[in-house]
Amino acid sequence: MGFCDDVKAAVERITASDDITIISHIDADGIASEAILSQAIARAEIQHSSVFVRQLEPLTMSQVPDNASLKIFTDLGAGQQNLLEERGFSNEEILIVDHHVSQACNRNYQQVNCLPYGHLKMSAAGISYLIAKAIDPINTDLAKTGIIGNVGDMMARETCGLVGLVRDVIVEDAVRHKNVEVRRRDLNCYGISTRPLYLSLAYNDDPFIKGISNNVEGAKQFLRKIGIKQQTDEGRWLVWEEYSVDDQRTIISALAEQLIANGEPINRLLAETYHFPDEPVRTPLRNAQEYATLLNACGRWGRPQVGGAILRGDRGGSFREAEHMLVNHRAIIRDLLGYIIDSGVTKLEWIQYLHVGAKYPDTIVGIGAGMALSKLDNSKPILIMCTVPEDKNLTKVSMRTTERMVERGVDLQKAIGDASSKFGGVGGGHRIAAGAYIPKSAEQEFVILVNKILGEQFGAKSTNYR
Ligand code: C5P
Repeated sequence: MGFCDDVKAAVERITASDDITIISHIDADGIASEAILSQAIARAEIQHSSVFVRQLEPLTMSQVPDNASLKIFTDLGAGQQNLLEERGFSNEEILIVDHHVSQACNRNYQQVNCLPYGHLKMSAAGISYLIAKAIDPINTDLAKTGIIGNVGDMMARETCGLVGLVRDVIVEDAVRHKNVEVRRRDLNCYGISTRPLYLSLAYNDDPFIKGISNNVEGAKQFLRKIGIKQQTDEGRWLVWEEYSVDDQRTIISALAEQLIANGEPINRLLAETYHFPDEPVRTPLRNAQEYATLLNACGRWGRPQVGGAILRGDRGGSFREAEHMLVNHRAIIRDLLGYIIDSGVTKLEWIQYLHVGAKYPDTIVGIGAGMALSKLDNSKPILIMCTVPEDKNLTKVSMRTTERMVERGVDLQKAIGDASSKFGGVGGGHRIAAGAYIPKSAEQEFVILVNKILGEQFGAKSTNYR
């Protein structure tokens, strides 16, 4: 059996069902996965409903309905199969569509997971799209949503563009459908549709450009010096996508020169980007990265359905609500980032950690941890803890590291999974980003154990190198 056979088996299961419940994750990939599958299922005229959970853990398991429907878990489930088993779900009731590391379990739940087949750069929205397309080729309009989910889950980040099956199948389908435009050698910078260009440049640190990154005035001066008009005649700041191809070329060449002058590599200056010409200009809906942030804002602030409505085309009330959440989301993340940097982290031999208490929602600490890592010593994985408002005895943990550390043998999913299960918690995720819920009473011991496991991982790999 190959990955395509698993997709086919899932399609058979779905089309043979007369009632389906989709249980999905609240992040951009989870929202995109739900939107793809539920639209494909609706078009196949199968009765269905959806539930979003912030994560599958004992507290949220009660949100999974106890009825006769086929339960499809998207962007979660693979790492929490013991919870499904404990709940007494039979094999016939469950289908898992996930890209997280699987947990061994006594039941053999049907799963479509790209990881065991080596498709490491595919998110749950990617798998959902392949299923939707196999249900009916009319669903290729949903390839755009598949791209948003993949980009939202950082599948394009390391490789400066989507790769593998996602690039070859999903991006190509979207281009053929004409609702996505690919720019192969675009500026690798966030905010190309909504941020004044100098801010996009100043907020970007991948690649870090001396005198421009983390330097708002420096970025403005740089553009002035190379003769680039920054405002319209009415005084509105121009965004990257409004510049002509010639201006864009001038800016990219000047940025490359700046990198070279500082002895820095230029390989991360350009990236393949995904644009949506059918969306209104200068909105976050115009490109995959900013669209995904909008969805994340909806999910992390408890309104994933609003993100789902936008993906289905609502440009009225839902879009306005999402824009409000986005403003709030950005402000809190900026604040969290400042808090992490100002408070400082405690360094152990193999990790650095911080407890942010009840100051920030458990749904965003992981995002803050990831952003903080680029401003801290990124050779040590970061671990952030916070309290869970619904249960004062529970602590949420988020960990992040870099691709370089993963290459050196770091596997956060394994570290956090093993350590949390020692204390009766549940954790999972990926090698590079993982999370867990643990008992509050175990915080200190947990941190010490994670540090020890990470030490073993670093050590284990260097032994292999010998
Ligand atoms: O919550 P956070 O953003 O830190 O999650 C990082 C990754 O770990 C996500 O992919 C999430 O789905 C996964 N995770 C998990 N089990 C948990 C918490 C997070 O699989 N209990």
